Amino acid sequence: MKVFINKKIPQVGLDIITENNLEIITSETENPSYQEWLENCKKADIILSVGKSKYDKDFFDACPNVKAIALFSVGFDQVDIAEATKRKIAVGNTPDVLSRATSDVAFLLMQMVSRRASYNIAKVKSGNWKDFDALEELGQELYGKTLGILGLGRIGFEMAEKCKAAFGMNIIYHNRSHNEQAEKELGAKYVSFDELVESSDIISIHANYTPEQADLFNTSVFEKMKENLIFINTARGGFHNEKDLFEALISGKIWGAGLDVTNPEPVQKDSPLLELSNVCVLPHIGSATLEARSGMSKLASENVVAFAKGEKMPTCVNPEVYN
Ligand code: DGY
Repeated sequence: MKVFINKKIPQVGLDIITENNLEIITSETENPSYQEWLENCKKADIILSVGKSKYDKDFFDACPNVKAIALFSVGFDQVDIAEATKRKIAVGNTPDVLSRATSDVAFLLMQMVSRRASYNIAKVKSGNWKDFDALEELGQELYGKTLGILGLGRIGFEMAEKCKAAFGMNIIYHNRSHNEQAEKELGAKYVSFDELVESSDIISIHANYTPEQADLFNTSVFEKMKENLIFINTARGGFHNEKDLFEALISGKIWGAGLDVTNPEPVQKDSPLLELSNVCVLPHIGSATLEARSGMSKLASENVVAFAKGEKMPTCVNPEVYN
């Protein structure tokens, strides 16, 4: 079987694929055009997909040979899963291996925002470090605060665990279902979405993104939040309306925001968000550690190999295709 790998991945994954005698197709150019990418997809049985390429009905019509997609990500919002399932196209993702790294970034952003770190770093760099002022640059402490998690799965659990251990935070969460482990081990309390919004001091998003959740965090939601609220998004930029978030931040409706994902992405250079002292933006680096990326490479390649051997992918998003 032919496997198209659209971007470079850590060697561990390439070794797994070649050891299993699968033929690898790669792009001929550094930054392939859409057309070149599509031509390579057409030749492939399996795609190991790195990045944001979209796989929808039009794509599947154009590439009838594609039988499986192994994503190099835990998120699978770029694939029309219902359409893939209808066509018996297996889709794999890379959960678990990036949970620590991604939750570390949420934890980092929370602290950076609480002490306005990016603004203060910029101030030092521009030579504006002034004399000590007892009333200037005051952050807020995180001890004993309430952390609200939207989507308490593996990454959310890691974030909650760190916040509890480091700052003795109370954990509340909203999810599709109860997370019994988090309730038992962390004392996490399941609440409605409204209660999450109204009672949290920090909100951190760790849910899977679907189009129905576009702009879930908008003006009417920001208005209900506490004034000291720190908004953290390391999931998908689509969860928040960026204009509404900006308004909430400049009007003092909320205290600050830490974003590893933006809407659109990459963030525009002239985005007004980047001018704010209470915002920290990172370039979607949640899983960007040697450990997590190697784990993703290994798992995505194991999904490829399992499919090629006629076995179930170890981490399949739509296992119904095997029925
Ligand atoms: C993921 O794995 O979903 C990361 O956000 C990278 O896309």
